[in-house]
Amino acid sequence: MSTRLFSRAIPSSSRTLLPSSSQAIAASRASSSQRQRILVGAQVRWNSAVAAKARKEKFLPDFSMAGKATMITGGARGLGYEFCRAFVQSGCTSLAIVDLKEEEAEESARTLVTEACLDSDMDPKDYQIIGIGCDVSSELSVQQAYRRTMDTFGRIDSVVASAGIVENYSAFDYPFDRIKRLYDINVHGAFFTAREAARHMIPQGGGSVVLVASMSANIVNIPQPQTPYNSAKAAVKHMASSLAVEWAKKGVRVNCLSPGYMLTKLTKTILAHDQELKKTWESLTPMGRMGDPEDLSGAIVFLASDASRFMTGSEIRVDGGYCCV
Ligand SMILES: NC(=O)c1ccc[n+]([C@@H]2O[C@H](COP(=O)([O-])OP(=O)(O)OC[C@H]3O[C@@H](n4cnc5c(N)ncnc54)[C@H](O)[C@@H]3O)[C@@H](O)[C@H]2O)c1
Repeated sequence: MSTRLFSRAIPSSSRTLLPSSSQAIAASRASSSQRQRILVGAQVRWNSAVAAKARKEKFLPDFSMAGKATMITGGARGLGYEFCRAFVQSGCTSLAIVDLKEEEAEESARTLVTEACLDSDMDPKDYQIIGIGCDVSSELSVQQAYRRTMDTFGRIDSVVASAGIVENYSAFDYPFDRIKRLYDINVHGAFFTAREAARHMIPQGGGSVVLVASMSANIVNIPQPQTPYNSAKAAVKHMASSLAVEWAKKGVRVNCLSPGYMLTKLTKTILAHDQELKKTWESLTPMGRMGDPEDLSGAIVFLASDASRFMTGSEIRVDGGYCCV
């Protein structure tokens, strides 16, 4: 391959990364295989330099969360906290972290702001990230959380309902009060969160709601018994489609994100007593590992942002291929 060929393919502003004159002289004196190595080396350096520059400066603007007022329930830790980070990394500066304990939500808000200002031209006062205490299983508590969010931001554009719990009991052993509590949080909590979101979004022209379901909405997990959890997540998935149809012409989109086995506090608690279970879960996942919470960042930003503007009532599964087999 000649340097002239490179010159045609590479924009003039980047040509400083082409083989230097000494490299070109070396190439002209070298054998053909050495010449090939020198030129390929230069091409690789050019590719990685341009890729680094492009990564830093270019992204599809529709993925930006800048200027959007957002809320994430269950945002103090686990996947919810990772969704908060993904929003802030994508330019969001107005975020309500909603969780059971207000102090934990506030602590997470402070950590996020500190993290966001590291190696950045942003200042803590550029961010309005607030922590709000709320029990999503109480409609009144959810309404109060929205009131505080609206009082702070004046609008709400993207909401993620991530608050949820899981428990493993066989059907015969599951105490009814615990089944009821699980449905109250996972199903009714998601419904209250979505309904209040739409009540505020419709008058302002629309918005995006993401309900966090699970791959368990589609498959039956083994070996652990968790029938109420699985059926609650199936309800959340269908709730997203049903609400999406109700509100489609009013500008409110509702989608759901269904993670596979992710390493968070929720799963670590289960695995703390059972290391074999982790191996089983990994072996049942085609990609051979559990997910890191960051593995969901792209999907959550896609669903919450304008990048998914013609998508409603859909599910995105991020499960390492679990549901395929
Ligand atoms: N971790 C996984 O492998 C996995 C897989 C699929 C789906 N999910 C779903 O993702 C969501 C988040 O799970 P996680 O792994 O981050 O769990 P987690 O336990 O790490 O975090 C859940 C958060 O929700 C909060 N929360 C619980 N009950 C609440 C309530 N009544 N009101 C307000 N906040 C409440 C908790 O305080 C906590 O901060 C859940 O809906 C879960 O079902 C998790």
